[in-house]
Amino acid sequence: MTAQPVPAQPQTSPPPVAAGETRVWDLGVRGFHWLTVASFLVASATALTDPTRFFLVHVLSGTFVLVFVAFRAIWGFTGSSYARFSSFWFTPAQIVDRLRETLAGRERRYVGHNPLGATMIYALLAALVATVATGYVAMGGFLKAGPFKALVTFDTAALARGAHSLFAYGAMFLVGFHLAGVALEVLRHREPLVRAMVTGRKTSAPNARPARPAKARPALAAVLFAVLLGGASWATAALSALPAYGVPPPATDKIYVDECGACHFAMPPSIASTKTWDAILSGLGHHFGEDASVDPSHVAHLKAYLDANSADHFDTLAAHALSRTDPSDPLRPTSSRFWRFRHDGLPKSVFDAKAVGGRTSCNACHKDAVDGIFSPFAIDIPEGAFQ
Ligand code: HEC
Ligand code: HEC
Repeated sequence: MTAQPVPAQPQTSPPPVAAGETRVWDLGVRGFHWLTVASFLVASATALTDPTRFFLVHVLSGTFVLVFVAFRAIWGFTGSSYARFSSFWFTPAQIVDRLRETLAGRERRYVGHNPLGATMIYALLAALVATVATGYVAMGGFLKAGPFKALVTFDTAALARGAHSLFAYGAMFLVGFHLAGVALEVLRHREPLVRAMVTGRKTSAPNARPARPAKARPALAAVLFAVLLGGASWATAALSALPAYGVPPPATDKIYVDECGACHFAMPPSIASTKTWDAILSGLGHHFGEDASVDPSHVAHLKAYLDANSADHFDTLAAHALSRTDPSDPLRPTSSRFWRFRHDGLPKSVFDAKAVGGRTSCNACHKDAVDGIFSPFAIDIPEGAFQ
């Protein structure tokens, strides 16, 4: 390599660049970088602390990551020289070479991304997209919310949930590697890379490899981004408007509410299996220590209604998780491991409070209990319960 001066990049109105410095990262790259860092941190922090409580923030920050990556993908074809994918698209042989050089401590300098750094960036972008995509799929199947609520079953959501964690931890791992790579570059070549991602400028090493000059096309990028964002928003709205898969009908049977809502909240039939309801109906004379016998002419009706609307027919989280009751207490949805796990954090006094009225008063805290949905967004414990 001969020592060549790095060609200045064509700019419409180039701000002054100090001698020996090259403008490397344009505003698109820097904006993408730091906005993605911020969103990724928020998404990670909300997931690692209390994902139920911060769910909305978690979903929003994840969505922002996807939007920023979409912009970056467009900018990879429309940005200035070092933003373009073509400036850091390397063959496997080049990547292996780079690894060898780095291990031997005699790596060549690149003005933009080197082959290892570039590989890291593609892997990170892919991990981010995969994390957000599987998050949306999991949300569709578990919460019956979002664009995939009509398409995804609970079982698929369970797989997606696993993949979501895997990709998210993978992305965190890659971020760790990315930081290690930056640290290596900073220490070995005294190149202040963090500052470069702020100012956009790097001190050019005498034999660093410049990219082929390319002019940024922000207007084109804006149009493409607007089209992509508009299309995605339209598709999201259209898919979200479809009825959710495997969700019980909201209407509740009047006879059921009259008979089974007399002493406690008439729990939605979709939280217990047909087997459980049949067992409850055949033992109403000694129902949890009470005589809950119903008008005999209503028994057949109740059986038909509960059987037709039991957990066996629906795909909600509550249907799957609450119907798995504890064999030692098989008639109580509240004996399921899931119910206990989710309500363990609440003191007994909260359930006993007048404003609630016991564990069976699901509707005191769950605003959508009648529908059998039990979305984490619809939880609101009455004020009085904490006194
Ligand atoms: C006479 C009052 C009374 C009537 C009427 C009644 N129940 Fe109950 N039910 C109770 C009591 C008391 C409990 C126990 C509550 C507790 O332990 O917190 C209970 C508990 C339950 C539970 C278990 C909830 C859990 O997970 O802890 C189910 C399910 C249930 N009832 C269903 C029904 C159905 C179905 C009907 C209508 C056929 C019905 N109940 C009518 C009094 C009644
Ligand atoms: C005193 C208020 C209260 C009552 C009563 C109550 N819950 Fe909950 N429930 C909560 C809270 C709070 C959470 C969220 C816990 C957490 O952060 O994981 C929750 C979580 C849940 C979830 C999980 C939601 C999700 O996707 O994260 C389900 C399902 C659920 N409850 C069902 C029930 C059913 C069924 C009943 C009645 C038998 C019931 N709950 C009664 C307060 C209550």
